[in-house]
Amino acid sequence: MIQSLSIRRPDDWHLHLRDGAMLAAVLPHSARHFARAIVMPNLVPPVVTGVDARAYRNRILAALPEGMTFTPLMTLYLTEETDPEDVAAAHANGLISAVKLYPAGATTNSASGVRDFDKVRPVLERMAVIGLPLCVHGEVTDPAVDIFDREAMFIDRVLDPLRRATPGLRVVMEHVTTSDAVAYVSAHERDLAATITTHHLVINRNHILAGGIRPHYYCLPVAKREEHRLALRLAATSGDARFFLGTDSAPHTDPLKQGACGCAGCFTAPNTLSILAHVFEEEGALNNLEGFTSLHGPAFYGLPPNETHITLTKGAPVAYPAKIKTGDGPVTVFDPGFALHWRVT
Ligand code: NCD
Ligand code: ZN
Repeated sequence: MIQSLSIRRPDDWHLHLRDGAMLAAVLPHSARHFARAIVMPNLVPPVVTGVDARAYRNRILAALPEGMTFTPLMTLYLTEETDPEDVAAAHANGLISAVKLYPAGATTNSASGVRDFDKVRPVLERMAVIGLPLCVHGEVTDPAVDIFDREAMFIDRVLDPLRRATPGLRVVMEHVTTSDAVAYVSAHERDLAATITTHHLVINRNHILAGGIRPHYYCLPVAKREEHRLALRLAATSGDARFFLGTDSAPHTDPLKQGACGCAGCFTAPNTLSILAHVFEEEGALNNLEGFTSLHGPAFYGLPPNETHITLTKGAPVAYPAKIKTGDGPVTVFDPGFALHWRVT
């Protein structure tokens, strides 16, 4: 039985670091284990221009505690006003690694997202030419569509037409939650990948709704039926390079999570790697953990894997805080519902 595992240092290909006091509190939890992260641009106001991205990157680096190393990989928030020239310039000087597409109204701080996809066509075409990936929040926002169907519907109504209309555009379907998304990604050899979160490998919709409403399991895209969770586990642990880790660790303070209209997001940064090792061990796939956390993502983004390694060791239950303190208030850490035995040593 494997009790210790050395893997290249992981990266997080979808992370919310926020800003100000929250940034200062959550950043060390990611930097402790991860070398790099694709940083989501859904601040208020969002990170829309190269100038915004440079300023935000500087704030992240300034918030990094002494002695820690961490490389934020910046993204721009795509709006109907985004200038293709600004995107191309930010890419050319190495400032950004991707552009993020939020359909307007799909999730937290997405009001400035895209309503009319024809308006962003020039940006997408430019991105296809320069090879800059588009990270996609894949949910339709049509209020008539059931929330549990919004991802599957997005593939047919938006994603597939968009990819056909923009040959060569490299797309990451982010935080996939359905067997439909796994099947769509699996069916395409080129220019398409998906990130999978830690929490979607652990919870299904019963965790949110059965036996009481549990706001700390509410995130977007919302967790689906058990059959979908199992499809995600198969994809993540399969060794297929089109699937890689994007934790979507998304901190909100307890009052914002627990109100009458609670925010979406699970905060998984502190215990993600312990949970992932547990899941991969359960699936008999510890040998594929490194691919998922540390190799497939860099390969898709055209970056070298990290040179340094981390060691995961199995032993007595791992202690982690139920909540962390932030200048904005307490943030609850994701509770996988089982004891964790893998620790990063
Ligand atoms: C994210 C957030 O809080 O910014 N929330 C979430 O539930 N994942 C936004 C997002 O990625 O959809
Ligand atoms: Zn997210």
